[in-house]
Amino acid sequence: MLFTQPTPALAAVHPSVAPATLARVSELGTFSHGSASKLGTAGLRINQTESRTAPGWLSVRVPEFFLAGRKRVLGTVSLSLFKTMVRVAPGWLSARPSKFSKTAPHGTLGTAGQVGNQTESRTAPGWLSVRVPVHFMTAGSDPYHLPVLPDEVFDWMAVGPDRFIIDGTLGGGGHSELFLQAGARVLGVDRDPEALTHARERLASFGNRFTTWEGNFSQLREIPEIQRGEQADGLLLDLGVSSRQLDSAARGFSFMREGPLDMRMGPSSPRSAADVVNTWPEADLVKIFFEFGEEPKARRIASAIVKRRAQRLFATTTDLANCIEQAIGRHGRTHPATRAFQAIRMAVNEELEALAAGLDAAQHVLKPGGRLLIITFHSLEDRMVKRYLKHRSSRFIDDPGWPEPRANPDLAYQLLSRKAIAAGDEETSRNPRARSAKLRVAQLLPPTP
Ligand SMILES: C[S@@+](CC[C@H](N)C(=O)[O-])C[C@H]1O[C@@H](n2cnc3c(N)ncnc32)[C@H](O)[C@@H]1O
Repeated sequence: MLFTQPTPALAAVHPSVAPATLARVSELGTFSHGSASKLGTAGLRINQTESRTAPGWLSVRVPEFFLAGRKRVLGTVSLSLFKTMVRVAPGWLSARPSKFSKTAPHGTLGTAGQVGNQTESRTAPGWLSVRVPVHFMTAGSDPYHLPVLPDEVFDWMAVGPDRFIIDGTLGGGGHSELFLQAGARVLGVDRDPEALTHARERLASFGNRFTTWEGNFSQLREIPEIQRGEQADGLLLDLGVSSRQLDSAARGFSFMREGPLDMRMGPSSPRSAADVVNTWPEADLVKIFFEFGEEPKARRIASAIVKRRAQRLFATTTDLANCIEQAIGRHGRTHPATRAFQAIRMAVNEELEALAAGLDAAQHVLKPGGRLLIITFHSLEDRMVKRYLKHRSSRFIDDPGWPEPRANPDLAYQLLSRKAIAAGDEETSRNPRARSAKLRVAQLLPPTP
């Protein structure tokens, strides 16, 4: 964070990651020759992202852990890349501007400036304090869901004012909040009405820059804005379920909590987990446990389920989890029902079908140059996304029966990330869910004439 002067860019505080504070490049000396030399370019300096957001301005984003965890305690001191930061009072963070302080124009002790809705003041010689908005202080600790790969999503989405972004998996609204903070307009989509209610409350302060649509991202083309001919600058699909859904016993996703065997992400899901477990033929259960759960003991589990349901139908999550545990035993630290539960959830919500349809719909809701960002947590999903984007970004296709490669009629995207982007050690230690996250990014090409 560079506290060289109170800048309008403090208004662009990065909500759950950190404040993106802008400083004039001329004041930053060597930084102006760093990795971020072109407008819009972003570069990594140690664990911070810099990007050139406007001519003469350099933005530095500080990772979330500066404000999360240990930095929440009053009086805690921690070292950022540039300086020591101290939590001096609730809602206040102080930083010693060190070498930049001499060039800072607001060097007088006691000077205070109003920046957007934030106040900065020079509280002691060499120290500058910034009042951090409440949502910023609490972001990242939202018990609803901690967004994965926040820095990466923010950067790859190339967010900015006047951009229209569809968050196809709104969940707790963590990613959406990042986009809104950067000035974008966001339409949040979720099939879970409870998620929509939570996110509407959380993001109410953004007024009409944030709107929602309840539905499946497989049907993005039905969104009224899209029907009216609007196209988005970006689409994010952050697949799977949120921590809130998983942790809520009443939703029936977790084998750790006693609840009804439900697992529907929303009312549009065609069936419940109880329907699958109590009525599907044994062969179909084997198939989903193998394919969706990658469960090597799929047959044994399916057979045990079928035997047990002949006597008494399954009604609760723990009932099913105990049956699975009895069938295959407990080895290692992972609960024996983990894979089977994942498989049932994917079947209940037809997750792979939704992904396939969502990938097809993306092309119709993005404007040329618009970015598609997909985060997967499962190898089947990642394979599907990887293959889809590979095919849609290949200029030529080949077949052993053809004399030479042919132009690909399905060409639609340019692949921006050759390899899947994964979370770093810092994030995975803070958010274990990020361990299996893979982000892939592509950009829609203009239509061929
Ligand atoms: C991993 S969470 C998203 C978290 C979100 N990015 C955040 O920062 O809080 C996934 C969300 O997407 C929703 N979802 C999953 N599949 C969906 C689909 N096919 N259509 C619409 N919503 C879906 C789930 O209900 C859940 O709320």
